[in-house]
Amino acid sequence: MLDVRTTTSDAAVVPDAPPVPAHAAIRREDYRPPDWRVPEIHLDFDLGIDRTRVRATLEVERNGPHDRPLRLDGDELAPLRVAVDGQDAAWRMDGPALVIEVSGDRAMVETDVEIAPSANTKLTGLYASNGMLCTQCEAEGFRRITFFPDRPDVLSRYRVRMEGDANAFPVLLSNGNRIAQGEAAGGRHWAEWEDPFPKPSYLFALVAGDLQANRDRFTTMSGRKVELAIWVREADLPKTSHAMDSLKLAMAWDEQVYGREYDLDLFNIVAVGDFNMGAMENKSLNIFNSAFVLADQDTATDADFDNISRVVGHEYFHNWSGDRVTCRDWFQLSLKEGFTVFRDQSFSADIGSPPVKRIEDVRVLRAAQFPEDAGPLAHAVRPDSYIEIGNFYTATVYNKGAEVIRMMATVLGRDKFRAGTDLYFSRHDGEAATCDDFVKALEDGSGVDLTTFKIWYSQAGTPKVTARLEHDADAMTATLHLEQHIDPTPGQPVKQPMPIPLKTALIGDASGAEIAPEQLIILDQPRQSVRFDNVTETPLLSINRGFSAPIIVQANRRPGELERLAWADSDPFARYEAMQDLMMTALLAGAQGSAMDAEPVVAAVGATLQSNALDPAFKAEAILLPSETLIAERVQVVDPDAIHAAREQLRTAIGSSLRDALSTAQRSDDGSGDDLSPGAKGVRRLRSIALGLLAAATPDEAASLAKAQFDRADNMTDRQGALMTLVSLDAPERQGALDAFYERFHNDSLVLDKWFALQAAAQRADTVDRVAELARHPDFTMTNPNRLRSLAGQFAGNHWAFHHPSGRGYDFVADMILAADAINPQAAARLVPAFGRWRRFEPSRAELMRRALEKIVAKPGLSKDVFEQASKSLA
Ligand code: TRP
Ligand code: ZN
Repeated sequence: MLDVRTTTSDAAVVPDAPPVPAHAAIRREDYRPPDWRVPEIHLDFDLGIDRTRVRATLEVERNGPHDRPLRLDGDELAPLRVAVDGQDAAWRMDGPALVIEVSGDRAMVETDVEIAPSANTKLTGLYASNGMLCTQCEAEGFRRITFFPDRPDVLSRYRVRMEGDANAFPVLLSNGNRIAQGEAAGGRHWAEWEDPFPKPSYLFALVAGDLQANRDRFTTMSGRKVELAIWVREADLPKTSHAMDSLKLAMAWDEQVYGREYDLDLFNIVAVGDFNMGAMENKSLNIFNSAFVLADQDTATDADFDNISRVVGHEYFHNWSGDRVTCRDWFQLSLKEGFTVFRDQSFSADIGSPPVKRIEDVRVLRAAQFPEDAGPLAHAVRPDSYIEIGNFYTATVYNKGAEVIRMMATVLGRDKFRAGTDLYFSRHDGEAATCDDFVKALEDGSGVDLTTFKIWYSQAGTPKVTARLEHDADAMTATLHLEQHIDPTPGQPVKQPMPIPLKTALIGDASGAEIAPEQLIILDQPRQSVRFDNVTETPLLSINRGFSAPIIVQANRRPGELERLAWADSDPFARYEAMQDLMMTALLAGAQGSAMDAEPVVAAVGATLQSNALDPAFKAEAILLPSETLIAERVQVVDPDAIHAAREQLRTAIGSSLRDALSTAQRSDDGSGDDLSPGAKGVRRLRSIALGLLAAATPDEAASLAKAQFDRADNMTDRQGALMTLVSLDAPERQGALDAFYERFHNDSLVLDKWFALQAAAQRADTVDRVAELARHPDFTMTNPNRLRSLAGQFAGNHWAFHHPSGRGYDFVADMILAADAINPQAAARLVPAFGRWRRFEPSRAELMRRALEKIVAKPGLSKDVFEQASKSLA
């Protein structure tokens, strides 16, 4: 496949382009429209696991007056034949691309290539997984299947014929509708598919394999009957009902909330065991990582069930925010991803608990996006340049992008936001649009000027807002003094002020009532003051309620203010936030060598556990301590041992002072394993969090509690929760439980991932040795991204263990990155950001981390994926 011809006898016809540097940056400002359009494409596949022949027939059309040749992207492709209007044609290779001189304004261009799916370990393009064939084309995988202008602003109607062995591939799927099928000689068969909606190449999909379907139906609001199918291996059929239920809920939700209806007669989902990301929104043929499809009570946790609903919803919602309206170029990725994450977050909130969902989303944002925004890989929601676009499927583009849309939705209110999205979908249907187009549609649909909000797309970095409330008891007024600041990020040394919508209220210290009802303050100056009148008692500041802006608030608080807010605030998110601030204050003191005052935290956690007004899911979130990674973001110089010790100290204080309340929560009999209601899920979550806190105080007792919870469990949530506590203890019960888990589940790869992940996440001094052993376990493999993530990814996120003072954690992950890079660069590159914050660590670790990055960058033949992440981390 790498044997690419570089010249032909006709090559002299076209002057040579200047050589392109190996890892050149692509810049947003260099965008220009495509030279050629491809209104129609016909693909003909002769399928085989080891060898697949692809014939492509492109109807090409010159786009505007120019004399440039037709340039078709390719990646590890060699043309076997090139014809223009039926005649063999002059062509040449320019690096991986095929260049063809076309004289007229229109032509039929045919190419033949042969590709090797079973040798495709990158899992992008056409590849083999468990004997089936499937595709992953976003962002630039289509060029690994056939020569094509592989960019999202070239939209084509696809007709696809595929033929292959009927035994190996009884099911043949592609986008759109199946228009014909039949038998062929030699035990072969074929099918032909047609997608009536023009689409960019990244949305093309093909699946061929021995699959069975869970079938259902959905009738849309205008009466269209849609056939739904979730395709899996036969043995997995019983695990597909939750995904199917989620799909139907998502279809109904998009009709009710956005007025968006499904537009074809078929909707297929296929589960694949080897997959780089979560799932892919290919038009009418969504392809999923099986982790986001398969679930039953015995093998999947409540979090897994929730993730399935979230991802099934996400990919379905892309049908409008992504497929019907797509992106002009990859710098606009957040146009579809930020919006679709916002949509899936709202969906999950509506089918679950809105305040708990908001807390979870903010936890993810703080854990993944804030560090990104503060480190060497910081980039804007709409980046300005990239080397490898695969590196920009980030928490910034996805989750911060969703926050930006949430802020605009907050400013507009529900009805005006809906008027804006209605206009967006109708104005840009069938087009490749930009983030500016999106904001413009929101403005035109709502009649509200959002110009100032556009800076959220271009300026990187998390704003820090300081807040100080000044109370004048005699005048019965309070004045809120606000100030914003954004630290420099790579390429953006000077920052502009941003519009920051702050939902704010004042709570009476004595009464606990809202003495100033919630209002939306837009902080858009470097400094701003807001006055409140009729302040009849000492006020408590409730700010950034519901996390109305993705910022860091540094509020000047009076002693006792957070404790009071944690109890009295009328906004559940603000109560959670007060608890977090209270905990963080204690943890930062401990981590930085001062005396830790655990009492206020213990009191607040105790009151939360005791409350009759709060549901268990909220209690579980509220008593969860900030992670070590989060604490590390807040200290001047990171000492992982000090952070770990401080967090353990606080956990021990809570566990010993609140033993009775925690034991009650741990023992609760509510929430039988098959009950997936928010209430039952909350009981289980609280159970395992309580168990963890008990373990900090009384490890021996907790070990037997954990063992009992493990043995009794009729569901994976309780089982995994118990094991999570056990793996971190030095208890005799530990190894037996791990072995029993392995014995029972080692044939289920998704559960085996949990077995690896639990051990890689263990809070133990010897975790670094254990993961090295596990990497030699016969069930460990780097070719499966889920397995790689479950060991190396989990370990790199285990703050205390990864930052082992010896540097062995760094060596382990660096070696994993280099070994994985030769197999699957996308998966390898995702491990690099763990090293990104090296400058913030104490000198010895900083040096060890820097050396690990240097070792990675020095490796000959490094992929551009890993090169970009590692070299930018060192800069
Ligand atoms: N568009 C997909 C989603 O968010 C993301 C995705 C799936 C992806 N597979 C990928 C991105 C491979 C890059 C590479 O829904
Ligand atoms: Zn997406």
